[in-house]
Amino acid sequence: KTYRIASVPGDGIGVDVTVEARKVLDRAAGKFGFSLSWTEFDWSCERYTRTGSMMPDDGVEQLSAFDAILLGAVGFPGVPDHVSLWGLLIPVRRAFAQYVNLRPVRLLPGTTSVLAGRKAEELEMVIVRENSEGEYSAIGGRHNTGQPSEFVLQESVFTRVGVERIIRYAFELARTREGRVCSATKSNGLIHSMPFWDEIFAEVAAEFPEVHSEQCHVDALAARMVQAPERLDVVVASNLFGDILSDLAAAITGGLGMAPSGNINPSGEHPSMFEAVHGSAPDIAGQGIANPVAQILAAAMMLEHLGETVAAQAIRAAVDRTLGDRTAVTPDLGGTATTARLGSVVADQLA
Ligand code: NAI
Ligand code: MG
Repeated sequence: KTYRIASVPGDGIGVDVTVEARKVLDRAAGKFGFSLSWTEFDWSCERYTRTGSMMPDDGVEQLSAFDAILLGAVGFPGVPDHVSLWGLLIPVRRAFAQYVNLRPVRLLPGTTSVLAGRKAEELEMVIVRENSEGEYSAIGGRHNTGQPSEFVLQESVFTRVGVERIIRYAFELARTREGRVCSATKSNGLIHSMPFWDEIFAEVAAEFPEVHSEQCHVDALAARMVQAPERLDVVVASNLFGDILSDLAAAITGGLGMAPSGNINPSGEHPSMFEAVHGSAPDIAGQGIANPVAQILAAAMMLEHLGETVAAQAIRAAVDRTLGDRTAVTPDLGGTATTARLGSVVADQLA
């Protein structure tokens, strides 16, 4: 079987880590009996500075022909972040109905949590972030510019369909894990959107009596993630809340260099897109020292989504062995290995 993969390395370390993920995937393909046909796109902030756009007008259409998309990271000093978000990431997520942003976290072997004394199994969880609506909306505007009465309006959009499908996804996922879902809310402060979210959460929860469900205000949930992470497994949250909680979850399990994510179209009608949680890290770009693990784990999630579960599991095991015996670790983990060396060792662990 051949999978058609679109690779969009992007900017900065996105390029460095995508090379390594591809190295590992190609080795896994050879070993597990499938093949990958790669097409690379130079869509990036660097392209934006040359041409005025992140991707061509028919970019989304070009991607629609692929089975999956592997994205590096986009972002470049001098290019405002909203350009890369609204010029590439958000249009792709929305056009392909990638309404789930899945961010599994676990403490990898050979790494320590900033939370002293926490064991790996206590920190394993997954953030299911709503990825298509909510607080990240273009509706609103700036009024009375320059006047003392100046103000802005920033609207959120929560649809019944949108809220229901993300919550249902979380419950279905919980059934395959520990059978626990915690919903992030803030219905004491956001008096329209969050009571609606809570109401739908209760409706869906009633369909899954075997799954333990609870809801928690997002501020208290952030505290709980640090103080009692063992009580969390599947966390479902709106776009903004999920964005924040997933960076927090990544931080307590060893840092951004190791956290993968998937922008998933659950029906499979459109391609899903996999990426590291981290950005383009201009401070270390081009130095060959970025940690490629997050991107390699994102690539493993991609294989899992494509149905190559055994290969995905083998890649995760190869990463665990490489970090566990510290054969090759990058400076962010206290080692001296280069990005390329860590990628090669993981690939060799597969063979
Ligand atoms: P960042 O994630 O790029 O970097 C934050 C810090 O973590 C930096 O000190 C960096 O060196 C370190 N770091 C990140 N990934 C690492 C890795 N793999 N190995 C070792 N160290 C690593 O976040 P920052 O600095 O806020 O953003 C930089 C640019 O990336 C911005 O333009 C931002 O918009 C963009 N960005 C893009 C994302 C995407 O493409 N989805 C996501 C987040 C940020
Ligand atoms: Mg984020």
